[in-house]
Amino acid sequence: MFPKSYNNWHFGGARRERQDGPALFLHSVRSRTVCAAHAAHAVDVASEPPTSDNIGGITMSKNDKQQDAIELLISQHDDVKALFKQFDELGERATTSKKKLANEICEQLIMHTQIEEEIFYPALRSVSREMEDMLDEAVVEHASAKDLIAQIQEMEPGDDLYDAKVTVLGEYIEHHVDEEEEDMFPKVRKLKLDLDALGAEMAARRDELLATA
Ligand SMILES: [Fe+2]
Ligand SMILES: [Fe+2]
Repeated sequence: MFPKSYNNWHFGGARRERQDGPALFLHSVRSRTVCAAHAAHAVDVASEPPTSDNIGGITMSKNDKQQDAIELLISQHDDVKALFKQFDELGERATTSKKKLANEICEQLIMHTQIEEEIFYPALRSVSREMEDMLDEAVVEHASAKDLIAQIQEMEPGDDLYDAKVTVLGEYIEHHVDEEEEDMFPKVRKLKLDLDALGAEMAARRDELLATA
């Protein structure tokens, strides 16, 4: 049985309550129980100007306030794939760059899996029982990736199997991302979900997680 709080992810009526404003913002991100708060912080983030950060030599676009949930996740997939490619191209002795890139990869993946597990997957479960098995498998794949991430974070470049673990993590993520983009997301587009509101909540949670990482 789905948690009652996830049973109404359509947000249609929530937009009427935007005047609740930022006070509900952090609370709603944490609890995800109040659809009205959802719409409230969607408005808050929409009014912020676009910014960008240069991370690992690539520009991570934050001009995603208008991205819906799927667009946001795909852009994060692309960002992390670019980081893996950069890692792969580093020379054997580029230990400082390897450490920096691996840390960034781990941080981005922890954030990404967390917003999927906290916000995106529960929203899908709330409207589609058919996707339950697929989502369960995705969570199990996340757990395996997080185990590898934890190992990498404990290691230093030059340690035995360090490069191999980052490479295997990259292959693992590529497989997982392909399944999401080719199998899961097309199904999600057909669900009755407000993907714009969902994307706004996920972007807010992303910013919150990265600010405390
Ligand atoms: Fe995922
Ligand atoms: Fe993903």
